[in-house]
Amino acid sequence: MPKTDSESKPTCHELSATAEIEGIREKLLVYGYATANDSRLGFPEDFRDKFAWAYFNDEILHSDVPDIPVDRKRARDVVYYEWHDSRLDLSEYENILIKNRGNIPGERRHSRVLLLDDDYACNFIRTCLSLVPTERRHDRGTFGANLFRTFTQVVTQPHQDSEEYIIIYVVGKVGTGAESYLYRADNPDELVFSATLRPGEMLIFKDDLFLHGATPLVPGDGQVAQRDAIVCTVDYPGTYLGEATCC
Ligand SMILES: [Fe+2]
Repeated sequence: MPKTDSESKPTCHELSATAEIEGIREKLLVYGYATANDSRLGFPEDFRDKFAWAYFNDEILHSDVPDIPVDRKRARDVVYYEWHDSRLDLSEYENILIKNRGNIPGERRHSRVLLLDDDYACNFIRTCLSLVPTERRHDRGTFGANLFRTFTQVVTQPHQDSEEYIIIYVVGKVGTGAESYLYRADNPDELVFSATLRPGEMLIFKDDLFLHGATPLVPGDGQVAQRDAIVCTVDYPGTYLGEATCC
């Protein structure tokens, strides 16, 4: 049984895969990663502006002390999903707590943001889940959406998040740097992907194949650098559902 917030309403949608989505699924199967662009995925033109206004602010984002990097602000939502053929049902999941992730030991509680009441945010989650190749997706599971505002370091070192798929989507950025990279997990000297994601761009990859990270932000003259990103996880069943982690 899904563990849903009692006040959340399940949302049900029929999803049709566009050629763009089919292409991303194919790249994930062949290469283990793919890039995307919000306009090609059909996001509304004002998606980033509306999302940033609604969520990337100090009412939603909070610092977790101690955090790594220390000056990062964040909020998290966890959504429970069920696929019924092409229909995707979403509901808020009751628990957002996980342990020992991303080289950060122990248990930490993050600020909660509820995204499903917002059509824009809900459609973003639906699109992200639809990128997973059909033959690889689970009938049900959890999806984490982490809103990160970083100013200096984006992450501290190449790492894995111990989830099934990771999706990094940049909402806004001031400054340069923050070059995303993937190294092969079975050969950490081999760089597979390296690019600086601009606002509107997305990177999706299968977490167990790579070590991922990003270089530090670099401010321009007189600037405070800032990067707003949504880092999503298509989770293994054991992350929140209390089931054995699948392979
Ligand atoms: Fe990560």
